[in-house]
Amino acid sequence: MGDEVRVPIVYDTDIVAARSEGRRMALELGFSRTDATLLATAISEVARNILIHAREGIITISSSLNDEIAEIVVVATDEGPGIQDVEMALRDGYSSSGGLGLGLPGVRRLMDEFRINSEDGKGTEVSMTMWRRQ
Ligand SMILES: Nc1ncnc2c1ncn2[C@@H]1O[C@H](COP(=O)(O)OP(=O)(O)OP(=O)(O)O)[C@@H](O)[C@H]1O
Ligand SMILES: [Mg+2]
Repeated sequence: MGDEVRVPIVYDTDIVAARSEGRRMALELGFSRTDATLLATAISEVARNILIHAREGIITISSSLNDEIAEIVVVATDEGPGIQDVEMALRDGYSSSGGLGLGLPGVRRLMDEFRINSEDGKGTEVSMTMWRRQ
């Protein structure tokens, strides 16, 4: 069983759309309301990063259920400027734009798996997974 939704992120309102798709899919898969909300929060952070730092991009949310293992995978991609120093971007308080710089490190703590692929000048891909907990 599985489901996949692609949400283009171009306008502010797309953040809300991506966020609620993630929440809906998590609840459908039997995630707790708390985890569904945490997942939705992680999705809005990466969506907001796309808008602010890369202008536009796309968020793909996939759910899967295999042998009782239920997970949601979120991939946020853009063709913006990329992140020069990923390690630095993951530090609490680092922001290139006067933000709080808590977005990415916060998202990393919320999710079970978290990976950034970014090459300077070639865009950014953030992939992250949350498992259904008992
Ligand atoms: N999609 C992206 N494209 C390019 N750079 C990015 C992207 N996402 C994050 N970054 C870089 O990583 C830094 C850290 O991101 P993070 O979300 O933690 O902080 P922020 O967006 O600056 O502030 P906050 O999220 O707290 O409002 C950003 O300041 C930016 O330099
Ligand atoms: Mg941010």
